[in-house]
Amino acid sequence: MDQRVGIIGHPVAHSLSPVFQQAALDEAGLDITYELWDTPGDELADRVSSLRSEETLGANVTIPHKEAVVPLLDELDELAARIGAVNTIVNRGGVLHGYNTDGRGFLAALKAGLDYDPQGENVLLLGAGGAARGIAFAMAEAGTKTLAIWNRTATRAEKLAADVAATGPSVGAEADLKALARYDCIVNCTSVGMDGTGTESESPCDISSARNDAIAVDIVYKPAETRFLRGARARGMRTLPGLPMLIHQGALAFEHWTGRTAPLEIMTKAAEEALAAEAAGSGAAS
Ligand code: ATR
Repeated sequence: MDQRVGIIGHPVAHSLSPVFQQAALDEAGLDITYELWDTPGDELADRVSSLRSEETLGANVTIPHKEAVVPLLDELDELAARIGAVNTIVNRGGVLHGYNTDGRGFLAALKAGLDYDPQGENVLLLGAGGAARGIAFAMAEAGTKTLAIWNRTATRAEKLAADVAATGPSVGAEADLKALARYDCIVNCTSVGMDGTGTESESPCDISSARNDAIAVDIVYKPAETRFLRGARARGMRTLPGLPMLIHQGALAFEHWTGRTAPLEIMTKAAEEALAAEAAGSGAAS
């Protein structure tokens, strides 16, 4: 029987997941097709229901449905329950299990890319949206010494800080981005700097007060180097762009569906080639 898995989002046409997940499935010799499932909100319940069919392994979930799918599932992994958002669904005999691999994918990318472990570190997260939530809980779980969360809309940062603080660590909402020297790691989880948002020439903070031995991480992967990362690199800081996190969260999802180790290099190569082709097609490569 041909099997399938796919990504649920809206809009989802530009997702890179089909490219690198299909490359991984093919590499593993699995007869599984990864599909794009563009799903407006009023079709979400039916879409999720359809995942119970025998030939469906599960799904990835992306913007804007990561929180909305939660009540539609049968079982929730403990971390996903704490975060309140799911990015991976696994169909086990008609029973839908929800996971969140964003945060652990992020930590795996930090380890693989910069050999960085946030345990005992002072970390600043910029942003308090869906992506920031997964990363904040994963950082706390990894044992950061302090976690400061800044957001344009302060109430959202306060809410996320309170949710994470309930799990134990020292977390606070940050109001002032003028003094960044106390942070060992600064992570952009906002969409500022992302292609197509009109903020491509902006940075979420002025990085000039950060220490040059701190690290800067961006979850934005288009462009490959945002203004924020460019500024950090110019100061001599070590930097990590968003693509490795995207690949690692996808690799963990692949492992949930197939029980196999994900071919990270194949996935990365496929994603990089797709991004390069897209940039060339749009004239952005010149
Ligand atoms: P995601 O799931 O990708 O995190 P999201 O939940 O829409 O998407 O969150 C987007 C994040 O980027 C939020 O932290 C948002 O700030 P607000 O909560 O104030 O909206 C942040 N963001 C988006 N545009 C921004 C801008 N121009 N300046 C600062 N922050 C911005």
